[in-house]
Order: sequence, then C-alpha cells, then structure tokens
Amino acid sequence: MKTAVSKKSAVKPSARKGTARKTPVPQARPFQYKGLDLYCDSVSLAPLAEQYGTPLYVYSADQISSRFQLFQKAFAARPHTVCYAVKANSSLSILRLLGSQGAGFDIVSGGELERVRKAHKPSLRRVVFSGVGKQAWEIDAALKADILQFNVESEMELDLLAQRAEQLGIRARFALRVNPDVFAETHPYISTGLSEHKFGIAITKARAIYRSAAKFKWLEPYGVSVHIGSQIRKVDPFAAALERVASLVRYLRRDGHDIRAIDAGGGLGIDYSDAPFDAAHQVERYAAALEKGLGAESAHLLLEPGRFLVAQAGALVTRVLVAKKNGSKNFLITDAAMNDLIRPALYHAHHEIVPVRKPSGKATLTADIVGPVCESGDFFARDRVIARVKPGDLVALLDAGAYGMTQASNYNSRGRAAEILVEGSQAKLIRRRETMRDQLATEIL
Ligand code: LLP
Repeated sequence: MKTAVSKKSAVKPSARKGTARKTPVPQARPFQYKGLDLYCDSVSLAPLAEQYGTPLYVYSADQISSRFQLFQKAFAARPHTVCYAVKANSSLSILRLLGSQGAGFDIVSGGELERVRKAHKPSLRRVVFSGVGKQAWEIDAALKADILQFNVESEMELDLLAQRAEQLGIRARFALRVNPDVFAETHPYISTGLSEHKFGIAITKARAIYRSAAKFKWLEPYGVSVHIGSQIRKVDPFAAALERVASLVRYLRRDGHDIRAIDAGGGLGIDYSDAPFDAAHQVERYAAALEKGLGAESAHLLLEPGRFLVAQAGALVTRVLVAKKNGSKNFLITDAAMNDLIRPALYHAHHEIVPVRKPSGKATLTADIVGPVCESGDFFARDRVIARVKPGDLVALLDAGAYGMTQASNYNSRGRAAEILVEGSQAKLIRRRETMRDQLATEIL
C-alpha cells in the first residue's frame, strides 16, 4: 500500500511559527561572475582550467562548511549528529573538511570506511554503515573501527552481524533500517521508501526482529533508521516516515529495548535551476518536519545528508571542442562526457550550463551540449538556450558537487577529471587527473 501524504495534514511552511518568510533569501552561490569572468568564491575559473586542464571539478569549501553549519543550527535543539553521506562526494579533502568540523559519516562499503579512516580517523566513531549487501570483511572492518551503528537491512544481515561480532568479541550497535512504505515523489531510481523497493525491512516486521535479536549477546539494539530516497523537495514525506518510526520506537521501548538513536536518513533536495534558493529556510522546514514526525519521542537524531551539503558547492569546468550542426540541430561537443557526470544521462537531470567568460553581446544559441563518448545518451543538455560560446571556450556545469565525481567512470578509456578545492583565496589540487598509466595499472596481459 502506498501512503500518500495527506494534503490535510501537511502544514504549510509559511504557516509554521518562526519559519514564515515572504520571498526566498538566497544564500550566496559560490559560482558568481565578477565582471565577465566566472569565479568560485574569490578564485577565477579560467586560470584554473589553464593550469590544471579540463574537465575539472571545482568545489567551494566555504559553501560545504556553511551548509553543514545550517544543519547544525537547525537541529541545535535536539542532540544530533550529521553523518554526511560519503557516496555524494568521497574525495578525502572534503571528508576531512567535514570530519574536522564534527561531522559523522554515512558509509555503504568497506571502501568508504577506509576513506573516512584516511581522511579523519577520529570520525570513525561517528560512522553509520548503511547498505543492502554488506559482506563479512566489511562488517569486520567496521566492528574493529568501533563505528557508531550498523543500519541493518535484512534478517540475514542481522545474523551475519551477530556471527561476526561474536567471532571478534566486539559488540555491534545496530539499527534496523525500516521501510516505512512512504512515497517520496522523486525520480524512481532514487526513491527507496516503498515496499516495492529493495531497501530496508518492512516496518510491520521490525518489532519481532528486535525481539528475536535479543538472543544474540553481541548485538546491541541501539537505534531505528529510515531513508526514503534522494532529491526530495517536499518535506512532508520525511514527516510521514518519521511519524511511523517514532511510533515503532515507542513500541520497542515498551518492549524493553533501550533505543537511543533515530536515524532519519538523507534525501533533502536542492534546486538545480538558477532560481533563488533559500537553503537555510529549506533546512529549517526540514528540521520542523522531522520534529513534527518525531513528536515527543526523545532520541539522538542521526541525519545523513549528502547532496544538500555538497551539490551546489561544485561545478564541472569543461572546454568546448567542436560546434556542429546536424540537420536543424546545433551541437556543442565538450571535453567532459557522461563518464565525468552521468546524472543527465541516467536521470535526465538538469544542470545549468554557463560560460566561464561571458561572450560579448547578448546573442544566444539553442544547442545540445554533449560529450565525445560514443553513445547518444552522452548528453548534458538538450535544446538548451545558452550564451553563444564557440570551440575553445570554457563552460561550467553547475551544481555538480554531488554524485558527479563519485559516479565517474573510465568508459571509453577516458581518465577521470582532476579536482580543486577552493578555500578562501587558495585553490588546492585535491586530486590529480587520472593518467593512462593509472588506468592500465590493474590489468594483466
Ligand atoms: N543515506 C542513504 C542510506 C542513502 O542511500 C543516500 C543516498 C543518502 C543517505 C544520501 O542522500 P542525499 O542526501 O544525497 O539525497 N546518484 C543519485 C543519488 C543517489 C542517492 C543514493 N542514496 C543522483 O545523482 O541524484
């Protein structure tokens, strides 16, 4: 059964005390023009592209920190830990930036665990481990690292966790990731909270599983977790999911389980258009929705935002290689491709594309902006009206800080891009461009 979020119960954000605002107050975006040139904070992009080549990911550290602080502020009234979802952008320097400010991490693999260890070891104790198919070696590594919580997604996984914990003699704090059967209104590939999805355990079965877990001496029922999907713009589905979780927690506590944490997952969406975006207001609405769902239930709240912290902090800078016309269509072919940023190809996602140096005059062009990969699916935008750029010019794909580099591949034997982190007036190379030697290093002939 799908749970439609009732229109009646939905509290209009503007009606909420303390959060009413007439017009959005946009926070400064990191990518802004100064004169004709596009900057990331105080660093001009064109010289970076000259120095490090293209395609080039550029991120603003200030933006990432300020988004993290928005969460810290909005949830200040409740004990909480923001566990950044590593999969959104797992570059070590970004993990270190967040870890050193007190963030925890949501990981989904042994690989992500190692990234956290390498980037900021003290954060290991603030790690939650999600994922539907954890393997014994990954569980062992996480147990030894003494992570905060395992988000368990099946009874089989719970058995495996109990077995590994006993074997190693290390107690495992676990939460069942429950599937609340709530519709999240997002792209079907990134919606996870319905009973038809592979994620979590049906919320109706959870009580019995916590009861049967009591037989495992090395398992500690520590929390309940939920995650209903990603790029969710309305906050009501979060409230609906948490209401169900809070009700489960009440029952579990009555059953005698000492449930200390509620993990609300991630999923808060951003605006990929160039419209003003009031991030602070969005986080406040989100916090209010979660509070509404939680009601009086006290617990340490865990949050797993990914996209919201890093997406708008990043751009992919690329050079136009070729301009051509096929029939009536214009094509601009860039040196970045679907292997660098797969979101448009995979989800038909929209990214704003802007010139790094504004061309003189106001003339525009309607074109498909595409990469050189041999697939018609290799596009960034179709029939997009863009400033009249020409071969040799640089353009930036905005809001590419989340699920850009982490979903990059070597398709067509293309090396992965370099990455720059802008901190104040400093631009630091945080990942060099991948070479052909890197690509061939694992192959055996
Ligand atoms: N927690 C769990 C258990 C998740 O599965 C995810 C994302 C997150 C947290 C973070 O969600 P966020 O706050 O970033 O929405 N590649 C897609 C998004 C996939 C999201 C997968 N899970 C995209 O490019 O839109």
